[in-house]
Amino acid sequence: MCSIIGYKGKNAAAPILVDSLKRMEYRGYDSVGVATFDSGSILVRKGTGKVIEVNKNLNIDQMAGKIGIGHTRWATHGGVTDKNAHPHSACKNDIAVVHNGIIENYRELKEELASSGHTFASETDSEVIAHLLEIHYNRGVKKAMIETCKRLQGNYAFVAVFQDGTIGGARYEEPLIIGVANDGYFVSSDVLGFLEYTDKAIFLENGDICIVDNSKLEIFDFEGKPIAHPITQVAWELGDIDKGKYAHYTLKEINEQRLTVVHAGRQDEAVMNKFCDILAGAKDIYITGSGTSYHSALIFKHMLARFGKIRAETVVSSESQYALASMDDKSVLVAISQSGETADVLDTVRLARNQGAEILSIVNVTTSSLARVSDGCLSTNCGPEIGVAATKSFTGQLALIYNITDRLCKNCLETERAEFAVVVENIVANQASIMKVAVQMKDASDIYLLGRSLHYPIALEGALKLKELAYVHAEGIAAGELKHGPLALMEKNTFVIMINPRDATFNDTISNAHEIKARGATVIGISDRKDDVYDYWIEIPHLKEEAYYPIAEVIPLQILAYQLALAKNADPDYPRNLAKSVTVR
Ligand code: AGP
Repeated sequence: MCSIIGYKGKNAAAPILVDSLKRMEYRGYDSVGVATFDSGSILVRKGTGKVIEVNKNLNIDQMAGKIGIGHTRWATHGGVTDKNAHPHSACKNDIAVVHNGIIENYRELKEELASSGHTFASETDSEVIAHLLEIHYNRGVKKAMIETCKRLQGNYAFVAVFQDGTIGGARYEEPLIIGVANDGYFVSSDVLGFLEYTDKAIFLENGDICIVDNSKLEIFDFEGKPIAHPITQVAWELGDIDKGKYAHYTLKEINEQRLTVVHAGRQDEAVMNKFCDILAGAKDIYITGSGTSYHSALIFKHMLARFGKIRAETVVSSESQYALASMDDKSVLVAISQSGETADVLDTVRLARNQGAEILSIVNVTTSSLARVSDGCLSTNCGPEIGVAATKSFTGQLALIYNITDRLCKNCLETERAEFAVVVENIVANQASIMKVAVQMKDASDIYLLGRSLHYPIALEGALKLKELAYVHAEGIAAGELKHGPLALMEKNTFVIMINPRDATFNDTISNAHEIKARGATVIGISDRKDDVYDYWIEIPHLKEEAYYPIAEVIPLQILAYQLALAKNADPDYPRNLAKSVTVR
């Protein structure tokens, strides 16, 4: 959603904050701002746009002071304007605040504050935090933080800088992590905010408040009771977020997928065994996720049924509150999430926990909230994914799901991982032929993707990639459903992608392709077998283990969506209106 960062140390704060914001920009990228404390005053510079642009216009990195806070925004309350950009100050400019999350009771707080004479400069929910802090600041920073947190409802993490140079942070249902460096402290939404400076982190829990005062750190709860958390060492590899030779992170991440398959296979034996034992012993299994991770959940369910003879239900996380009534203390919830911070997923976990279920998770960020609340957690190990569209993390989730399934079915899958990695490399290399298809589809207004069985979730995933990267209406359809309605949409100018490898689904899907072609639509086949019905054929290799086709199919779709985005002058790394981690409901 948004990223927040605070720094208090021996070095100039502004360049450090700008650098940190660049590294966390994937979380939100419609506006940027920094406040620093220098010689008794708080200075604020903020504006709309990406970090590089706003910094260029406002010279943020040249602001004076060794104490400061920073923010990148993904708008929820109030439009994308300079005024709504964070940090927000109150009436006396003695406080500045950056916030991630949503203050649900902001309307009543705003009315109450306005009636006692406070004036508001923005349309955001976040500004109430600054005014509440201001009311209590004359009783000290600690009191101000506690009294403010007690009034806020919703999910939030915020960091404030006060006119005495103190930094305060609070966490409730949004991540907030302290970075402990030799010469100062960071308070950040993500370890990426400070990993360049220190690998020592303290993970705050819900209801924690921290204060960094005169280079001393204090952590306490909403009643003021001191809290001690251990310092954790985080893996430096997390910091590897360089674009390298690639034009975009998305392209880099698409190209990295050979390694993704390999790295997902590197699991700690004991953790993997525990994960599989919990699954095998469950009375019932629910698998949940959002967006791309939900598509992995659909494939996991299929794999468990087909190869493990294990029945599982899938629940899209945003619907879980209406769907988990039959869960109890013999149930297991498997939550799949790249970030491990998606609010809908964490809500589902909370619900399941309250009903007594055990929690297993598949994450990419092992320091995430989801990883930390799980009874068993496996990592996709694919390194930071910065592009907002999930690409390598999906491949990593699938590779890991294959691993788990293989373990549960006692090695029934053909797992020649090294061989498969080469196959993936060849698919990734096939970008020129996909480019030819992208050129034909540049002006398409409707794209349908059809597949059966394991290929149906790939149709959904391909459609999601086309929507978010290329801003085109795209719809994934179970191919057998064509005759139940969607056939009415097939006509000239309609593009239909058939996901159709040579397995048990092949012949039925070819019949669908003929029905579509007979109505004048353009048919594109993603398959290891050429067929005359295809106007364009995207070739994928024939696989010995047909369960692995989804990985082979999704990569061309990622490439297609990426190339269509470029053809339409859209920024593939930062699609409009979206954020990488959706930490609001
Ligand atoms: C995928 O391309 C999307 N950006 C989005 O659907 C994403 O998969 C979803 O928000 C879930 O994120 P998570 O895996 O981090 O929980």
